[in-house]
Amino acid sequence: MASASELSSLFLSFLLFISPALSTNSEGNALHALRSRFKDPTNVLQSWDPTLVNPCTWFHVTCDSNNHVIRLDLGNSNISGSLGPELGQLQHLQYLELYRNDMGGKIPKELGNLKSLVSMDLYDNRFEGQIPKSLAKLKSLRFLRLNNNKLTGSIPRELTTLANLKVFDVSNNGLCGTIPVDGPFRSFPMESFENNKLNGPELKGLVPYDFGC
Ligand SMILES: *[C@@H]1O[C@H](CO)[C@@H](O)[C@H](O)[C@H]1NC(C)=O
Repeated sequence: MASASELSSLFLSFLLFISPALSTNSEGNALHALRSRFKDPTNVLQSWDPTLVNPCTWFHVTCDSNNHVIRLDLGNSNISGSLGPELGQLQHLQYLELYRNDMGGKIPKELGNLKSLVSMDLYDNRFEGQIPKSLAKLKSLRFLRLNNNKLTGSIPRELTTLANLKVFDVSNNGLCGTIPVDGPFRSFPMESFENNKLNGPELKGLVPYDFGC
């Protein structure tokens, strides 16, 4: 019969054997890295405990049945700070809802890695810099709302390949150049583009020309 010490050392080996699986929490680590970039004066992120096995019990985070993060709901949360490349590690994310906060800095190009994304709502913040071309990789994207920020540069032509895009709003930014007219851009209303420095729709048959953009 095995002694107590033999049993406990067996149990210890078992724990060591499974520990890599338990500590694989790349999505939780990514969210925690994101949190470290934020100021959160009203403690909206208080439940984000990095010592938990996964982030699925954190408030404002939703997982699927395989414990992959599919939603981040931080709209209207009084958060300031910026986004970072780690957000691109949430490979299963479908909804990125960060609207009506005080977030600034650039939109990370790594958001183009969120291949399951259906909705990206960054409106009513202070985001600056260009709209990353990499967002054209988000083939499931249906809603892209970037209005009421401080974005500059032109609207990437690459976004015309997003066949599923239903709603696109970049109004109230500092964008310049012409408005694409192909693909989903055929059906977006002019209100989606108002209050920028845009030069109107691209003329069919002419090579797009950026007017000092
Ligand atoms: C945001 O701040 C306002 C004013 O301090 C407060 O009333 C509101 O509850 C806060 N929102 C959240 C989600 O904490």
